Amino acid sequence: MPADRKPLISGNWKMHHNHYEAIQTVQKLAFRLHPDDYEDVDVSVHPPFTNLRSLQTLIDADKLPILLGAQHCHWEPKGAFTGEVSAEMLAKLGVTLVIAGHSERRQLFGDTDELVNKRVKAILAAGMTPIVCVGETLEQREAGETEAVVEDQVRAGLQGLKPDQVAGLVVAYEPVWAIGTGRNATPEDAQAVCAHVRAVVGDLAGRDAAEAVRIQYGGSVKPTNAAELMAQPDVDGALVGGASLDADDFARIVQYRHVT
Ligand code: 13P
Repeated sequence: MPADRKPLISGNWKMHHNHYEAIQTVQKLAFRLHPDDYEDVDVSVHPPFTNLRSLQTLIDADKLPILLGAQHCHWEPKGAFTGEVSAEMLAKLGVTLVIAGHSERRQLFGDTDELVNKRVKAILAAGMTPIVCVGETLEQREAGETEAVVEDQVRAGLQGLKPDQVAGLVVAYEPVWAIGTGRNATPEDAQAVCAHVRAVVGDLAGRDAAEAVRIQYGGSVKPTNAAELMAQPDVDGALVGGASLDADDFARIVQYRHVT
């Protein structure tokens, strides 16, 4: 990737780790990472909501250069929405990155492209950075629909944004069949789809935005495959699920440049 796009490696913990485990994991991660790792790579962790305050306190107290992220939010600032959390509430906790439209939210909790777009706008309005997830199912891949599906999701998710807003956000290409299956996309496939995402962003928001937007790959990223995925010119980072739960594994992914 060009030097002006700093890689972003994010750990999406999904519904794992209580707040005690979260503190231990981040302490261990901070112990494993060195100052030059943070210079080369932005690192974020996205724990369940119940851990955010504990991690905010730890990150502030120890001045850790780890970015605090969330996995989801509602689009309204407040209201009668039992069980939901607003983008503004997350921003108050020091959260700077919020995932929107993860395939698990789309498949299990009814997230649609339209709702993803509302969440993206709310995250931006609260001064944070959205990580907009896109990706095809196995069925769609086998039907040769990957590029069309991903393109539709990008267009809908980013609809109505200004070019400078698009330039600052993150798109995560996460093929659904690669999530939690141990089966990652080949570096060539990841590159092809990420390049397509960049082209679609260019069409939507112009060349500067396309050059600036960071595109992550997600789906069974591990210490053993991170380097070859990250070596692709249009892959600017990784959204890591299972392997991010273990501080050693996650640190090795962040340190992908040193893996031989
Ligand atoms: P895995 O790394 O466990 O496949 O999960 C990927 C993912 O969904 C990250 O958001």
